[in-house]
Amino acid sequence: MKASILSLSAALVTLTAADNPIVQTIYTADPAPLVHEGRVYLYTGHDDDGATTFVMNDWRVFSSSDMVNWQDHGSPMSLKTFSWATAQAWAGQAVERGGKFYWYVPVRHFSGAMAVGVGVSDDGPTGPFRDAIGEPLVMNNEIDPTVFIDDDGQAYLYWGNPGLWYVKLNEDMVSYSGNVQQVTLTAEGFGPRQGGNGQRPTTYEEGPWLYKRNDTYYMLFAASCCSEHLGWSTGPSAEGPWTYGGVLMPTQGSSFTNHPGVIDFEGSSYLFYHNGALPGGGGYQRSVAVERFEYGADGSLPTLDMTDEGAPQVGTLDPYIRQEAETIAWSSGVETEPCSAGGINVWAIDNGDYIKVKGVAFVDGAVSFAASVASQSSGGRIELRLGSVDGTLVGTCDVPGTGGWQNWTEIECEVSGATGTQDLFFRFTGGGGELFRFDWWQFSQ
Ligand SMILES: *[C@@H]1O[C@H](CO)[C@@H](O)[C@H](O)[C@H]1NC(C)=O
Ligand SMILES: *[C@@H]1O[C@H](CO)[C@@H](O)[C@H](O)[C@H]1NC(C)=O
Repeated sequence: MKASILSLSAALVTLTAADNPIVQTIYTADPAPLVHEGRVYLYTGHDDDGATTFVMNDWRVFSSSDMVNWQDHGSPMSLKTFSWATAQAWAGQAVERGGKFYWYVPVRHFSGAMAVGVGVSDDGPTGPFRDAIGEPLVMNNEIDPTVFIDDDGQAYLYWGNPGLWYVKLNEDMVSYSGNVQQVTLTAEGFGPRQGGNGQRPTTYEEGPWLYKRNDTYYMLFAASCCSEHLGWSTGPSAEGPWTYGGVLMPTQGSSFTNHPGVIDFEGSSYLFYHNGALPGGGGYQRSVAVERFEYGADGSLPTLDMTDEGAPQVGTLDPYIRQEAETIAWSSGVETEPCSAGGINVWAIDNGDYIKVKGVAFVDGAVSFAASVASQSSGGRIELRLGSVDGTLVGTCDVPGTGGWQNWTEIECEVSGATGTQDLFFRFTGGGGELFRFDWWQFSQ
């Protein structure tokens, strides 16, 4: 573990029953969830450890089929993707159209103005993404794009702080027709602001999130400043007019910003947001979290508190198919990196670190455990424990030295006593320093 994360490990112990925040290996911000083919893809920003202002150089992608175990897909897009961008990899959103994925993001243009760029992936929701047009899509020194494709195929891009702006995107998703429109911010549309002024007359601040449910269009946003809360408005079309609905999430959670993202998945509705809840967290070390919610019968949104528990698990995790080591409900001390065997692996594994995988269904029991590991030192052990990090030990796998941190080998060990649906803990033990790295695992019944 890195020193900055190491110092947090004692505090992490008190959070082991939690599933929020979603990611513990890095600080994440500005969630943008997307449902695609039975999985939730979560696009986020990335706050640097220890930064004392916004230091954000890349974006990250995570995915889950159960809302609690999240697979890390690394960083398929960064400031370097946009040759004209110099800084500030801030709050974006991705959408699929015609089999391609378009990821709209605000960045600082070399002229000094904030601009919105668009990355495109031909290879699915986890990228890699390239700069679609080689220049800003829009540039008016405002930020935080949200993208929405209406049922008639018309796509909209909204963005803005302190204003709220939009364009109608063309079907190619990388150009637009007509003029850039500015929404008139009225108290009726976005709620009156205490101490509002000409530039910020309403609670609308930044981070818009546009979607449609039945025949109602929803505009969520980060509200007031600072600290922000989340607010919501509705309208009869994607171009409004907007009517203020109320507070979606009060000011909570030791980050002076927030950012909404809403999806429906497997019959439930979810709000993603961010706070400073990870140890060491705060306004510049934020973490993405999630809550499940229900709409009112009239389509209204509830007011949601931030929780440590997060959303309940959808279904269970199958231990009899290969699972990635970087599919994590909770972890302590470890980090992730690109793997020479493809994808991502877990690294920075020291004595006492652990990974929790939630709701693992040992429906047919288990007789053995296999894993892919690498170690440039003399390795260590993976203890397989159920229920908690100190829970029932059902197997111990020795990890040998393999001659390099990316020289992968498969290990196998016996398992007994793993039955039922269990929270599975990989507890790593060994000597001093980094022990080994961990790519994937699988049980056999
Ligand atoms: C749309 O409204 C109907 C009731 O008018 C409701 O049964 C249905 O679940 C709603 N659809 C969604 C996606 O919420
Ligand atoms: C580790 O992997 C590298 C690259 O494949 C290879 O050159 C090297 O010989 C390997 N080392 C050992 C000890 O296997």
